[in-house]
Amino acid sequence: MPQADLVVVANRLPVDHDETVDGGWRRSPGGLVTALEPVMRGADGAWVGWPGRAGLKAEPFEFEGTQLVPVELSDEEVELYYEGFSNDTIWPLYHDVIAAPRYRRQWWESYVQVNERFAEAAASATAEGGTVWVQDYQLQLVPQLLRQARPDLTIGYFHHIPFPAYGLYSQLPWRRQVLEGLLGADVIGFQRVADAGNFARAVRRQLRYETKASGITVPQPDGTVRTAVARAFPISIDTASYEELARREDVRARAAEIRESLGNPKHILLGVDRLDYTKGIRHRLKAFGELLQDGRLDVEDVTLVQVASPSRERVAAYVQLRDEIELTVSRINGDYDTMGHSAIRYLHQGYPREEMVALFLAADVMLVTALRDGMNLVAKEYVASRVDNRGVLILSEFAGAADELGSALRINPHDIGTLKDTIMQAVEMSPAEQGRRMRALRKKVRDNDVEKWSRDFLDALDTARARNSAAR
Ligand code: G6P
Repeated sequence: MPQADLVVVANRLPVDHDETVDGGWRRSPGGLVTALEPVMRGADGAWVGWPGRAGLKAEPFEFEGTQLVPVELSDEEVELYYEGFSNDTIWPLYHDVIAAPRYRRQWWESYVQVNERFAEAAASATAEGGTVWVQDYQLQLVPQLLRQARPDLTIGYFHHIPFPAYGLYSQLPWRRQVLEGLLGADVIGFQRVADAGNFARAVRRQLRYETKASGITVPQPDGTVRTAVARAFPISIDTASYEELARREDVRARAAEIRESLGNPKHILLGVDRLDYTKGIRHRLKAFGELLQDGRLDVEDVTLVQVASPSRERVAAYVQLRDEIELTVSRINGDYDTMGHSAIRYLHQGYPREEMVALFLAADVMLVTALRDGMNLVAKEYVASRVDNRGVLILSEFAGAADELGSALRINPHDIGTLKDTIMQAVEMSPAEQGRRMRALRKKVRDNDVEKWSRDFLDALDTARARNSAAR
């Protein structure tokens, strides 16, 4: 396999295994994939990742101009490293312990082993003096492991989820190892300024390293020091492709068809989430149910469409959440449905992007009520799709997107009373005000798309490379 100048390392490969298509692989729909594709193509790039199924073995192969390097995970590793440490320890801890994190030594051991395997695969895939860009919380140890194996590389790490306040972070029994793992990178990117601040504080308190605006001073085993930069690079979406879809005749027709199939209610409210306890789906349902109960909303006038795509279905907290949500939905529907009309249309499914854009165009109010969220790209997707400058975005202040989307109606999802008032404000908002707000939101999302995000990050890595070679 030829070595690449730019290598992305992520828990998942940008493709899904699918025997029904030619070659056996289908490109997965994620935004990161779309964002990095042009960069990877131009840079002779490679992508190291797990093919998404336990035990699936595959040799490196080329896919649409990028070298893909599969990392195999056994059944046991999926259970301990992915479901266990990544999604039952780090995920809940970093999302402010909305669910209780579980600390298991066996999970940590597997996390270390799998991180080592990813680091080895990345080290062999990268050319002399090349750049490696590590993605997300499943691989926090890879930067340092890679630096030890390949000191010639420039290493970036981007953290897609929140980084918690020190008081919570310090629960982690392996808090020092994780910080040291991350500090192997030259640039450590976060979604929000607050996340970068939490990280720097943890480094100061836990490792006693000096942190300044210009960077963190990291002592090296040989007695020298190097600098690691930690700062915010808010991620985004490929805005233009959403706008393009939203302008397509067939997508607009589909939006009208969706409204029609819901009985053309006066107001369509929409929630779109992975079925995850961080998303505040329960809070949203509570507010909606109470508005029906109070009579402030009439079931004949309104439908809440809740798309909850299946996620991490073998992790106990997710199994429990699904039961709770489905019970709540059926209670509300049981209480308020009429023969011809449903209060909530609940869909435990994922949909292709065209269908999502049609749904965004059909929805008068988009509800993003996350209790904690790194960014929340759905908020940006809704905005990008509203090329008609209509619709209202209700956005939790606990989602990273709230830093940029000041013209949304921002809410604290724990405050059910205000959430209810805000839903009423949204359904009653004049078209003129909707237009004013949506235009401002769209400008933000257009000026800050995912292409800019990857360019900014890679520019920061170029600066780090120049600094490193000057220091050598
Ligand atoms: C979040 C994480 C990603 C992850 C995605 C889907 O967005 O930041 O790293 O890939 O959720 O979760 P999954 O566990 O299915 O990969």
